[in-house]
Amino acid sequence: MILIDGKKAAAELRAELKEEVAELKSKHNKVPGLTVILIGDLTPSQIYVRNKEKSANEVGLKSEVIKYSDSVEEKTVLEKIQELNSDETVSGILVQLPLPKHIDKQKVIEAIDPSKDVDGFHPMNVGNLSSGYESSIPCTPLGCYLLIKKIEPNLSGKKAVVVGRSNLNGKPMTQLLLKENCTVTITHSKTKDLKAECLEADIIVAAVGIPELVRGDWVKKDAIVIDVGINKTDNGIVGDVHFDEVSKNAKALTPVPGGVGPMTIACLLKNTIDCFKRSQI
Ligand code: GUN
Repeated sequence: MILIDGKKAAAELRAELKEEVAELKSKHNKVPGLTVILIGDLTPSQIYVRNKEKSANEVGLKSEVIKYSDSVEEKTVLEKIQELNSDETVSGILVQLPLPKHIDKQKVIEAIDPSKDVDGFHPMNVGNLSSGYESSIPCTPLGCYLLIKKIEPNLSGKKAVVVGRSNLNGKPMTQLLLKENCTVTITHSKTKDLKAECLEADIIVAAVGIPELVRGDWVKKDAIVIDVGINKTDNGIVGDVHFDEVSKNAKALTPVPGGVGPMTIACLLKNTIDCFKRSQI
């Protein structure tokens, strides 16, 4: 079984991006900039944002974090986004989710200029991705896609089962696999016989938020299994895949942690650089 090393893949991607930033700097005399807006003091969000900032600095991006308290007015955030939209030194804008209840997530996402939407959450980018046009691609599915391609460069005709239908992961993951000519089945918590669906798959992407849902006898020999889950349990953090069982069957499997997570942040840096490059044409 191949244990897919997301940490190593992410470090390799960051090294490539660092070189690209240096080239862009010498060509344009400026570097891509990423601005993250963090609202409130949720610990996981703070940790993510700190990691994002650290990685951005490591590859040579200009990085800024704007922090607001939980009680910030929606209007203040929307005005700040407008200001960042017209700031030429800002290539990418990310508003860390989740947001406090009094702030309308959809309004915030739609306020971001689609050409600076490094999350790929703006309806314009969602539509472009599903139409097969150029777009920002959500970082987690993009990271999963790059890991799958490392194991299997030719995905044409493969059967892929995506478990989970969220806007963040499941739906964009489906689009990426379709673009590669996979036959894709989207499943979710209400799917009748999830085990039978998974048993058909050459590739399984589990992004449903249910601890250790995908069991050993759900997985065909030689399947590639990508685990997007990060679930807090009494036994610590576990994924959506039962690691010990599935590792006995699968051809390749991502661990949690150390699989998809590190790739998500590296892909955010990639998206920032791609937004910068498109803005320089
Ligand atoms: N919170 C957890 N994951 C994400 C993500 O990919 N993007 C944003 N903006 N917030 C998140």
